[in-house]
Amino acid sequence: MPDLLQIHKALADETRLRLLRLLSRSPLNVNEVIDILRMGQSRISRHLRILAEAGLVTRRREGTWIYYERSPDPEEKLVADMLLLVGEHERALPYFEADMQRMEAAIERRRQQTRSFFDSRRDGDELRHQSLEGAYYRQVALSLLPDHCDTILDLGTGSGLLLPALLERANKVIAVDASSTMLDLARVSAGADVDRCDFRLGDLEHLPVRDGEANAVMACMVLHHVSTPAVAMEEAHRALGEGGELDIVDLARHEDESLRELADLWLGFQPAEMRRWLKASGFDVEHANAVAPEGTANDTAEIRLITFTGRKPWQQQQPPNQHARRRKTATRATAAAKPARTTTK
Ligand SMILES: C[S@@+](CC[C@H](N)C(=O)[O-])C[C@H]1O[C@@H](n2cnc3c(N)ncnc32)[C@H](O)[C@@H]1O
Repeated sequence: MPDLLQIHKALADETRLRLLRLLSRSPLNVNEVIDILRMGQSRISRHLRILAEAGLVTRRREGTWIYYERSPDPEEKLVADMLLLVGEHERALPYFEADMQRMEAAIERRRQQTRSFFDSRRDGDELRHQSLEGAYYRQVALSLLPDHCDTILDLGTGSGLLLPALLERANKVIAVDASSTMLDLARVSAGADVDRCDFRLGDLEHLPVRDGEANAVMACMVLHHVSTPAVAMEEAHRALGEGGELDIVDLARHEDESLRELADLWLGFQPAEMRRWLKASGFDVEHANAVAPEGTANDTAEIRLITFTGRKPWQQQQPPNQHARRRKTATRATAAAKPARTTTK
């Protein structure tokens, strides 16, 4: 367990303080850190090791890749206090502008890779989400949504295969995607009701959506592509009106590196981190499930899904009646009838 002296020794170094400042914004791998700080690998690795031993950063293993992130949920009050202190004074540290610019450039490269992948997929059939498996994800996603609301925001709408069902549940759907190719495909998928669909090119970390514009937000199989999912959740929270909900369907943590070929940046998520990000963004976590893949009897055989619903709390206690929800446990169970089992986390 790190003690006061160890933590202070770890912090008593300009490079390590700069590292903490970077890692508090997004997990980074060593190559990205080298690129941002313009230092050699052995030096960076040594600094990261010292910070990790002091409990100030943690390693996040993504298959054969290792990312480092600021200790996400320090159990040690001492560590939490120190991280808070560094955060409060981060601008007083040297090279703030330069570090932030290079970090933004590194993150932009991640985004660019994802965009290039999806922009090059003119033939939507190549995509996993077009497959039968994709149909199953969407079935699970729809089971989370309210029966009806005014505006649904579909994050990472892809080729728009969810849109017809979303348009049955809402007066209007805002479909956001970073890939113009995907938005072109989505316009076709929307079908006859395309006029009630508003297509917007943009990134989940800077949503092209006004504050409070949506009543429900759907994030189906997209967060594992997003550079900093926690920031996407903050944006979803901003885009939602009070009482609105963010519904998430994504992959549970897995080791299948072949999915990187489909532009997956993160190899799924732990329920605990999803919950932490939702809470940090201001959501009340209403629902959290781990769902076995379709038709799977053995839960280790395939990648599981995780589903979450976060609700943006009302400022005042009383939600209006029109937001009364049809959704019940039974309804969800029916829509996700295929999974071999569901486990509440
Ligand atoms: C696997 S598809 C999911 C499609 C759809 N949600 C579904 O379930 O059928 C992921 C989509 O997210 C988009 N995407 C990935 N990262 C994004 C980001 N940071 N901002 C906006 N869209 C993004 C991709 O362009 C792609 O169209």
